[in-house]
Amino acid sequence: MPLFNKDVYSPITLLVNAGRDVPAESSFSNIVRPLWSTILSDNSEDDTVEHVHRTGCLFAMLVREALKSNPGWFGIDRDKAKWSEFFQKADAETLWSIMALHDVGKHFIDSKILTKPDKLTAQELKIIHRHPIDGAELISKYLEQCGATSRFKREHDAARDIALFHHVSYGNCDNSYPAGIDGMNIPFHAALAAIADVVDALSFKRSYKEAWPIEDVHSYIKSESGKKFHPKAVELTMRCWGLIQEFVRHHSESHVAEVDKIWRMYYVHLEHKRRALMQTRQDNYYP
Ligand SMILES: [Fe+2]
Ligand SMILES: [Fe+2]
Repeated sequence: MPLFNKDVYSPITLLVNAGRDVPAESSFSNIVRPLWSTILSDNSEDDTVEHVHRTGCLFAMLVREALKSNPGWFGIDRDKAKWSEFFQKADAETLWSIMALHDVGKHFIDSKILTKPDKLTAQELKIIHRHPIDGAELISKYLEQCGATSRFKREHDAARDIALFHHVSYGNCDNSYPAGIDGMNIPFHAALAAIADVVDALSFKRSYKEAWPIEDVHSYIKSESGKKFHPKAVELTMRCWGLIQEFVRHHSESHVAEVDKIWRMYYVHLEHKRRALMQTRQDNYYP
């Protein structure tokens, strides 16, 4: 039985309630918490909670690695300085929150389709392929309703870009969507998000697939450089592969699964503990 009443988090209710009871000085993470909670509430019985959590951490790792290598990779032309400044100043919780919204558009999809173990029909695939556009729109409308769009312009733009482009292939392969977007022109933060998403999806068991051995994940990401993934994003991923490997190993261990299970069961009550857990993980993974 789901832990949450889905109606409480329906997109309409979310938008109507957006910004209510949120102090004006709230951080971006606090403002968007109800938004990523929709994904957790929809999927409290499956592995999406862990996926959202882990991809947020992996994205933060890749951003940090990119900043060490070349902050100029973020943004285009005159915008470069502003993006690199934004990512340099962003704390891990902000980076995590930006990435945690990447699949928020799945809120509009029936969970029977999302967790279907068999091959999806053409119609079901069409429904799945809507989630980047729906997610980006929901993020924009939600922040606008909160009156937070201009105060968190970069956070908004980054979260929206990631939601919209995280399934776009750099080399415009067959399974790239939404259709008609040139993968070579997507923002670099979205290219990093695409890798974080796939590393996690392959490394862990999902309702529709088994976990891949980490060596196979490594070979796959490398082999898709310039095809599915941005070559510079792959280069960065390879540079911090030791850290990623350690992260995957740590999250595959049973005691971590237990912690996550408890967190899921007592989600509201344990919100503060999640934050403490994240802090521990940050201490471990973000030097
Ligand atoms: Fe997605
Ligand atoms: Fe995802």
